[in-house]
Amino acid sequence: MDDRTSRLREAFAARIAQAQSSDALESLRVEYLGKKGHIADLMSSLREVRKEDKKEFGQRVNQLKSQIEAQLVEARDRLEILEEQRMIDQAEDYDVTMPMSLETGSYHPITLIQREMEEIFRTMGFTIEDFSEIVDDYNCFEALNIPPYHPARDMQDTYYLSTGQLLKTHTSAAQNSIMRKYGAPLRAIFPGRCFRNEATDACHENTFFQMEGIMIDKDISISNLIYFMKKMLSEVFGQDVTVRLRPGFFPFVEPGFELDIQCLICGGDGCPSCKNSGWLELCPCGMIHPNVLRYGGIDPEEYTGFAFGLGLTRLAMMKYGIKDIRTLNSGSLSALSQFTGK
Ligand code: DAH
Repeated sequence: MDDRTSRLREAFAARIAQAQSSDALESLRVEYLGKKGHIADLMSSLREVRKEDKKEFGQRVNQLKSQIEAQLVEARDRLEILEEQRMIDQAEDYDVTMPMSLETGSYHPITLIQREMEEIFRTMGFTIEDFSEIVDDYNCFEALNIPPYHPARDMQDTYYLSTGQLLKTHTSAAQNSIMRKYGAPLRAIFPGRCFRNEATDACHENTFFQMEGIMIDKDISISNLIYFMKKMLSEVFGQDVTVRLRPGFFPFVEPGFELDIQCLICGGDGCPSCKNSGWLELCPCGMIHPNVLRYGGIDPEEYTGFAFGLGLTRLAMMKYGIKDIRTLNSGSLSALSQFTGK
């Protein structure tokens, strides 16, 4: 009985001393510890052992099994160290004094504008949230007071997935989850990529970026909204801006507005950039509809708030003078590498 376990022990010791790769170790493991391996074999021969010897035999086999396992782990660690050493030796072959290229990559204009905006909002006490690109109908529409068959859905030609979910058409889709996550009072922005089945031209893309913001507290009113937007946009453009509100309809805000800024190029006199109107349409916004607060678990009797949906892509185009929106998704290095920033 002794013989078999010690023979196996010796044979294993000889074999493992020769195993020089992790593949070799793995085959050894299978050969000895696998379901049909030597240890399993020994175990099944327990039946043939005399009753009074069974206990000792079992103990010996288990001991051998633990020894084999430990040796395999040790051998694996040894191999890893050798491999690391080999890599270090190889690395030492490099000539560290060789000159290298000083060319570095550049950030995408959307990343640049997004980071700049995040910094501005962070200093105003806003939390920055991330949200998935695949959402469900409830978040994208129903929780925003847009029930099925509401005509407002037509404005957002949606990509549906076979799962019944959809690609978010606007960052407003995160409002409900964020209200539920934080409750009131709340200040948050959530930048993100949105998708709509649009025909593309210089001004339209099926993939674009927005940055949604919400501020909810006791006694928030339209004058807070105007003051805040003016302050925020002055920061973005690095100069005082004049804003105006026009009525706009969005089911999730009441009242809803289109916020325009006075054209920064002509100062409001009218020029080709503002189509001679003196104003540029920049950001839809409004006071959050009581239903939307309610869906988000916030009592509209106690709290009010405003929301806005900044077009990040639009802002990047304005700020960097990009004339064709398609440049942004073109992957063209000659175009995109011009935007170096922090
Ligand atoms: N989600 C709207 C869109 O993409 C934009 C929008 C309008 C966002 C009004 C808002 C808002 O937060 O208050 O068409």
